[in-house]
Amino acid sequence: MASPAKISIDKSTTQADAAWVFGYGSLIWRPDIPYVDKARAVINGFSRRFWQGSHDHRGVPEQPGRVVTLTPSQDTCVGMAYLVPMEAVQATFEKLDYREKNGYARHQQILTLCRDDDTHAVEGLVYIATADNFAYLGEAEPDVIARQILRSHGPSGSNLDYLLQLADALRALDADDPHVFELEYRVRHLMGEG
Ligand code: SIN
Repeated sequence: MASPAKISIDKSTTQADAAWVFGYGSLIWRPDIPYVDKARAVINGFSRRFWQGSHDHRGVPEQPGRVVTLTPSQDTCVGMAYLVPMEAVQATFEKLDYREKNGYARHQQILTLCRDDDTHAVEGLVYIATADNFAYLGEAEPDVIARQILRSHGPSGSNLDYLLQLADALRALDADDPHVFELEYRVRHLMGEG
């Protein structure tokens, strides 16, 4: 893959017209938004972590689940970028703001789109739950996170389903994510499968 330093940034698609949005959690396997293009994408300077509490999707306020957010690091995070067409931008971001209302905010970032023969940087939006939000849980031992995932359920389904769907989606993207795959291993082990 070309180094981001060597590739030009295409600013031709911004919020003023069509807009790229980067998904690294449920937006990878259940975007549920209109899009006219999509591509495997990488965001630099972040790691995906199960450090965000979920009160309204994969848990409830009395028993929050754990879902992913991005935390600043020296690493890169692989996900899926979607190009939302101009006529759908406003309604789509209103819908995503509602879906991600449990502590996430929109951030503008450079995304590197990775296609077969092309590596291409664009500006895009990504929803990140930073450490100062009300539902943030932060770091914990993998076993503690795995046990919390196993016992949590919310209106969107079980927290276990979220983790396993994410792990499958990352394998389909050929993305190496030791944090996610270790949690998948641990929950399977706790369930007696590993
Ligand atoms: C995302 O998928 O990009 C945000 C986190 C989530 O909703 O799982």
